[in-house]
Amino acid sequence: MFTAMTDVPLPLMLTRFELATLLNEDLSREYSAIIAGVAFSKVFHAIPYRDVGTELAYQAAEDLKHAIELASQIDFWGIAPTVKVSAHSSTTNREEMLRHRQKAKTESVQRYRERVSQCEELGEEALADHLIDILLQEEQHLAILTNAIGISESTIGASKQRGIAPLQNPRLD
Ligand SMILES: [Fe+2]
Repeated sequence: MFTAMTDVPLPLMLTRFELATLLNEDLSREYSAIIAGVAFSKVFHAIPYRDVGTELAYQAAEDLKHAIELASQIDFWGIAPTVKVSAHSSTTNREEMLRHRQKAKTESVQRYRERVSQCEELGEEALADHLIDILLQEEQHLAILTNAIGISESTIGASKQRGIAPLQNPRLD
């Protein structure tokens, strides 16, 4: 947006309704993350993938908490939490599953960073604090998935049939 007189960009501050709409999109993505985490964790349930499966299930449980927190906030503002589930992968390939989760988490981290800034601009400091907690967990999810894929690439380089190596996850030590 530009002013007619100066062509200087004006700050684009969201309304609370627009912020709720974005949070509903985040909620839709959390539903998708829960589904993917639950389903994919079962593909990694056996040795040598068990740690990956445990981690994916753990992340799904945290994503459920994120969804409940988002829905509570949206409802608090008098807006219906969405029941829409964003698109998710239905691949049966282990490598693609992890890459899909990594891509989705990368996007989620970016979205929550934007959401924290938007809350601060609107003076929604308490909500910003909640979203920072969610953001920190999403960043941890992303770091662990990235680590798992890195291990996978070196392992697959040695043996393409072997697939994903056991996950080095400090949560599981
Ligand atoms: Fe989440």
